Amino acid sequence: MFERLDRLNEDPILGLMARYRADPAPDKVDLGVGVYRNLDGETPVLAAVRSAEASVIGAQTTKSYVAPAGRAEFNAAVADLVLGPAHAALRERRARTVQAPGGCGALRLGAELIRASAPTAVVHVSDPSWANHIPLLGGCGLQLARYPYYDAAAHALRFESMLECLERAPAGDVVLIHACCHNPTGADLSGPQWTALIDLLERRRLTPFLDLAYQGLGTGLDADAEGVRRVAERIPELLVAVSFSKNLGLYRERAGALIAVCADVDRADAVHSHLLQIARSIYSMPPDHGAAIAARVLADPLLRESWIAELGEMRGRLVGMRALLAGRLRAATGGGDFDFLTGQSGMFSLLGVSGAAVAALRDEHHIYMTADSRMNVAGILPGNAQHVADSVAAILRRGI
Ligand SMILES: Cc1ncc(COP(=O)(O)O)c(C=O)c1O
Repeated sequence: MFERLDRLNEDPILGLMARYRADPAPDKVDLGVGVYRNLDGETPVLAAVRSAEASVIGAQTTKSYVAPAGRAEFNAAVADLVLGPAHAALRERRARTVQAPGGCGALRLGAELIRASAPTAVVHVSDPSWANHIPLLGGCGLQLARYPYYDAAAHALRFESMLECLERAPAGDVVLIHACCHNPTGADLSGPQWTALIDLLERRRLTPFLDLAYQGLGTGLDADAEGVRRVAERIPELLVAVSFSKNLGLYRERAGALIAVCADVDRADAVHSHLLQIARSIYSMPPDHGAAIAARVLADPLLRESWIAELGEMRGRLVGMRALLAGRLRAATGGGDFDFLTGQSGMFSLLGVSGAAVAALRDEHHIYMTADSRMNVAGILPGNAQHVADSVAAILRRGI
């Protein structure tokens, strides 16, 4: 049976991690892997998570199954956090939330739901986008298309081209939208751009699928969910994939959720029944530990306050490192324009250089980023910013 399977190439990010680990250079810098790092270069366990975890373990009396939908209190808290507790979709009981194995699990659950209800719908994905969107959404057989989003060389959104492209999409198609902290560009829509996009989605009867993997790491917990909330005020049906990997640092615990907002209560109940059946048929039940921790943090006022403060520090560090790197790059290049770094948000920005330049930064200067020149700003530290700036300036001077 397996003779038909040829060996696949290594996942590019995992390959990059392995090369970084094997590099003996003392001044090597990892801007590749998409995890948050503190000033010590570590990906810490958040204080609120540590305490919530201790109380979850202390109170645990069984390891028996929970349910295909996961924990009810987690799902309710996620819907409140994302939509805001007073949102009309919640008041009118038109939203259903199902716990999922991380944001990836939520994206796949959403993709399977789309396939079950509209198998010929095309899912439009931004160009560029997070590489894993393609297998997560396309892997269940859905057809994908790309819409222009960002010009890496010009460091600018391609908003007009995006609207023109989506204007041509047939009614019933799905548009995958990064809710905040776009990965890999860090370039988010402004308030008026959200308005124009929502107008288009409504007029063309396109279904939004929002990916919210960085809530709280851009501008703030509420501000980062503003796009989702506004879409849900105007569009009757939408999906939101939520991840707590980054904002709670629960990467390996796989805590996420899918929110389906529907036109009315009956439709919401029908959609919910399908989501449970899909979950049952692919992983049966989501893992409990991370969701139990997240639910505890969200429900306990002191833990929640501690989390919000720590999230604020994380966000502040990203903003600070963006400013530091932009300043050092400006100086090292003799006045180059790196304002895009401070205007963008979240963990990522595209440096906007060629694949050859990315390879030279890696092989000659020991600075690791993905082939599209995506930099994880959380990899920048006060101690390595000068080395990164000098190296980038040297590469830019060579014009490769
Ligand atoms: C844009 C985006 N969506 C979703 C995810 C899903 O993350 P996870 O499955 O680890 O929760 C990520 C993680 O990197 C991401 O960058």
